[in-house]
Order: sequence, then structure tokens, then C-alpha cells
Amino acid sequence: MFEIVKRDGLARIGRFETKSGVLETPALLPVINPKICTVTPRELCDEFAFSAIITNSYIIKNTPELKAKAQEIGLHEMLDFPGIIMTDSGTFQSHMYGEVEVTNEEIVEFQKSIGTDIGTVLDIFTEPHWTKDQTAESIEVTLERTEKACEIKGDMMINGVVQGSVYPDLREYCARKMADMDADVHPIGGVVPLMEQYRYSELVDVVMSSKRGLNPSRPVHLFGAGHPMVLALAVLMGCDLFDSASYAKFARDDRMMFIDGTCRLQDMQSLGCNCPACRGLTLESLKKTDKKKKTAIIARHNLYQITDELALIKRYVREGRLWELTETRCRAHPAMLDALRELKKHREFMEKYDPISRDGAMFYTGTETRGRPVFGRYLSRIQDRYIPATDKAAIFYDGGSKPYSRARPADFDRVRRSGYTPVVISPFGPVPAELDEVYPIAQSVFPQAEDTDTQIESKSSAAELLERKFTETVDGMDVPDDGTEEYDADTIRAKAVSRYQFGTEATDALFVGKIELVISKNTGKIRNVISDGKHILSMRAGDGLYTLKKDGADRIVSAIRTPFMRVRVADDAIPFVSEGRNVFCQFVTECDENLRPMEEAIVTDGHDRVIATGRMAMTAYEIKSFKKGVAVKVRSGAGDET
Ligand code: GUN
Ligand code: ZN
Repeated sequence: MFEIVKRDGLARIGRFETKSGVLETPALLPVINPKICTVTPRELCDEFAFSAIITNSYIIKNTPELKAKAQEIGLHEMLDFPGIIMTDSGTFQSHMYGEVEVTNEEIVEFQKSIGTDIGTVLDIFTEPHWTKDQTAESIEVTLERTEKACEIKGDMMINGVVQGSVYPDLREYCARKMADMDADVHPIGGVVPLMEQYRYSELVDVVMSSKRGLNPSRPVHLFGAGHPMVLALAVLMGCDLFDSASYAKFARDDRMMFIDGTCRLQDMQSLGCNCPACRGLTLESLKKTDKKKKTAIIARHNLYQITDELALIKRYVREGRLWELTETRCRAHPAMLDALRELKKHREFMEKYDPISRDGAMFYTGTETRGRPVFGRYLSRIQDRYIPATDKAAIFYDGGSKPYSRARPADFDRVRRSGYTPVVISPFGPVPAELDEVYPIAQSVFPQAEDTDTQIESKSSAAELLERKFTETVDGMDVPDDGTEEYDADTIRAKAVSRYQFGTEATDALFVGKIELVISKNTGKIRNVISDGKHILSMRAGDGLYTLKKDGADRIVSAIRTPFMRVRVADDAIPFVSEGRNVFCQFVTECDENLRPMEEAIVTDGHDRVIATGRMAMTAYEIKSFKKGVAVKVRSGAGDET
């Protein structure tokens, strides 16, 4: 059973329950070669705190002493590892050395007989150079074998491996078929050659097309990815599990892993590492160490690099900043930068999963930042949902200080008195003054010196919006200070934010009769919106977006047909949810597919009556797939809490 605890991009911090304990994801499973233990499983557990490892059942089965021992005392005792053990099936050996002498059923049964927690099908490794026909044919065999493995798995979990070489449509097809089977984890296989050859942008397409087809409620394992350099990107794309044989393999030939690549000991100018394995050593002393001890030190160094990076990745996911870390990491190698640029092609798919807001500021790290879903989302929302208060625009430029209307109140007032709407050309594109406090506009930090991509893109998207929404556009500095028109900036803002967040139809339903705004005395910001005597919305100071109150939800539900903004729950959940408890996915019977994580949602009963309001913790598709976990974080509904 898998549960999402925290998310960012497609990344998730998850809880994966197995019969040997709970694994927090993202997690890396060090590979144990049962014949050569460079670092013992016991040390991996006690010293490095790994809660899961992976070993090879094919090697064990083909080594008589190991086979007998494993079947007699079980894999956990044989390896002296109390945590979770995953085993592979021999597929990788067939990739390396040709045919293997075992059938799918034999190796699955064998894995069961030695007490593996997560066993692997004997899938067919689809090589990157294979033709499409050859790949398609072999996928059918892998699918049949997976079906069989799921039938006979017993209480062992099964890895259903997604294959498909470099063909995105075959990857997605294979993933979709796998999603319908009773597999427990989905490794993405056949990618080792891509990583060895630095073909990271193809890796992006392979992972993303597999993710499109997979069931989101199962962990995804990226088979053979264990270099710290690729982990942030892989986690951002929604990979939960990794395995590394390289930590030991590289150590045996004096190669040290670092976050920015791998270095051969003989080519290094200095050691420059203070990990527990290297501490106190110099390059010279390490070079002089005898082979066995040196291998042990480097293997440990490599493991520390991996564990440090994973810990950092988790921190960034928790802070909602994994895009920033990934963009930084992808500058370690031009091939990684290609991968990051390739990821932009998947922006629309990622947007469905990308949280609508986050705590803290969004940092721009370079032109690739423009590939993040927030950019596309902002532009499509203002194009679709923005209605200007006047039909004339006055243009200003981003001076770095935000929110814009607080940075230049006199200028904005001057143009408004002449009937113009101030529009700032920002790195996000055009920002009407009334939207300058919503996430991510006010919560983003850009370098003062703009790059060419930003200049070109923000100008062209601004031109498009101005053309579509206004009849006249002037430079804000050219508007004389003699206007006398009256305007109510707060009410304009209150409606504009509502349209941006909920759409125009919902806004028409929400804003009826007399509108009163409660403004914070300290900040001057809108706090509550009262419409026709009812408190319908509260604005959060942090992201400038609304929380929806019960009275507001009632209006939307009366005006707009279900499933708009709805999460409908089963009768047995209603008493709990009405008391303010969260909605769990197993109780959801219907959900609006357009709701994004962190978006406001209306919880309804079977008669479309409002039970509560809250914020989405998952997407509709995830809610349908998951057996466990919070679908909507419900707020009690009382008072004007935000
Ligand atoms: N190890 C690395 N790649 C693969 C793969 O594609 N399948 C299996 N079973 N193991 C692997
Ligand atoms: Zn080190």
C-alpha cells in the first residue's frame, strides 16, 4: 500500500508499506551482489540507515550454496538485513550476457521461496537500438509474463517492469496494460544504456511516457539509476525508487561519485570531500591505501553522496522547491541540461499534478525555469479568465519591486483616473495590476538583468493579451495626470482574483448584490469578501488566493452543474466530514478532473449539497487510483480562518 505524504511537481514523499516494514520514498536501494559484499547489508542498515536493498535472485538460484541457504533460512537472515529486500530476476543478466536459463514461473516461484518482499518478473530488456516491431513484440511477452507473475505471487509483491525502448507510444501502451494488472511496483526498465551513454533527454521522454500510462497509486522505480546527479530530475518526474550498483562497481575501479559527475582517482587534483568515509584522508593517502581498503572507502564515499543528495531532495520536496534544485543539478552536465529542456515538452502533463501554490518564494534559476508548469498555467488562465475593468491598457515594466501596485501607487492611480488598467510586462508575461498579489506573481524572484528568452516571451504573450482584451494600449508614462474617473481598486482586485482562481462563471455566482470587503488594517490587503451579507471568500496573505467559505460554495453549487469544483463523498463519510475531518480517497465517489493539488474544492453529498470546503491534496485521477490517503484537506468552516 502506497500513500502520498507530500508532493511537488510529479515528485512525492510517500509511505510504502511492505511485509518487512514501511519505506519512505523517494528511496534508493543499494544493490547487494550476494557473492561480493563490498559493504555488508548490516552496515547498510546500521550505518547508512537504508531501509531497503535489492539483490539478484538469479545469481542466488544459480549458486548452489546460496540457493540452499536462502531456501533454508530465508533471504533476510542469509543477508543479515532486517529491512525490505527487493530481488531482480535475471533480466539484466540477459541484457549483459545473452539468454538466461530460467523461466518466468521458475524465477518468480524461487523469489517467493526465499522470502523476498518485492520480486521481479522475468521481463525482456528492450534495448535502445531495437526496431519498433521488435520492441512491440517483446512487450507482449513481458505483459504475458507479468500477468502470470501476478497470478502466482502469493504474499510477495511484484515488480511489473515497463519496457518499450525509446518509443514513447510503446512505453505508454506497456504502462497502461501494466496499470490494469495486480502488480505492486512499476520499475521503468531498459534505461541503463541510455544513462551510460548520457542520453538523458531520451530518458526524460521514456520516463514521462511511462508515467502517463501508469497507475499513480503505485511506486515507480527507475531501474539502474543510482548516480546522485540524476536523482533530483528523476524524482521531479515522479520516480519513487532507485537502485545503485555503481556505488560498489565504481569503487572497484577507483571512481568516485560526486553530485556533479564521476571522477577517477588518478585524474583528481585533490580529494575535496569531508564525508565520514573520506574525513581525515588526503588524495595521496587514499591513493596509497591498499586496494581492498580503498575500494571499501570509495564505496562508502559513494553511498554518502547518494544519501546526502536524497536527503536534500526530500527537503526540497517538503519545501515545494524541487524545480529549483533540479534546475541547478541539471547544470552539472550539458546532457542533463538537454534533459531539463526536453522536460518542457511535457509541461502540460506535469501541470495537472503541479500544486497551485506553495509557501515561500519561487526562484528563477535561468531560462529553463520558463519550462515549469506555473508559467503555462498563469498565461492560459489570464487568457481564458481575465476580464479587464476598463478597455484601455497602460503599460509599465517590471522594476523588480513587488507587488507592483505597492511599488508604484502614484503611477497606477494616475492612469486609473484616466480610465486605463495598469498592466505590467513581467517575466511571466502581462500582469494586470489587480492580479499582482496572486501566486506566483508576487512570490517570485527574478534576476534584475533579463535574459533574451524572457524578454521575447513576455513581450509576445503581453502583445497577445493586450490585443485580445483591450481596445487601446499606451505607455503608462505617457498618460497625463489629469484624470478624474473614480475606481475601486479593491473590488476590481477581489473579482479579478476570483475569476483567475475559480473562473468567470463561478465568479458571477459568487459576487452578487452588495459587495463589502474587510481590509486588513496592518497590511491594507483584502481579508474577507462579503457579498449580499454573506461571507463567501477569505484571501490568504501568503499567496493572494482565496479560501472558499461554505456560503460561497453554496452559491457555486446552485449556479453551476456538478462536477464543477466538486468532490462528492459517500454517505458513510458525511458525518465525519461535516465535523471538519479530512476526506479520504476511498470515500470519494466523483471528482472534478480540473481540480489541481492545493486548489479549493467543494465537498458534496449524493444530493449535491455542500458538506464542507477544503483544499485538494490529490488530483481526481489519483483519488480514483489510491486506496488510502487524504484526498481533500477539509477546513472546519467556522469563522474566517485562512
Ligand atoms: N535492471 C536494470 N534494468 C533492468 C530491466 O530493464 N529489467 C530488470 N528486471 N532489471 C533491470
Ligand atoms: Zn567522501
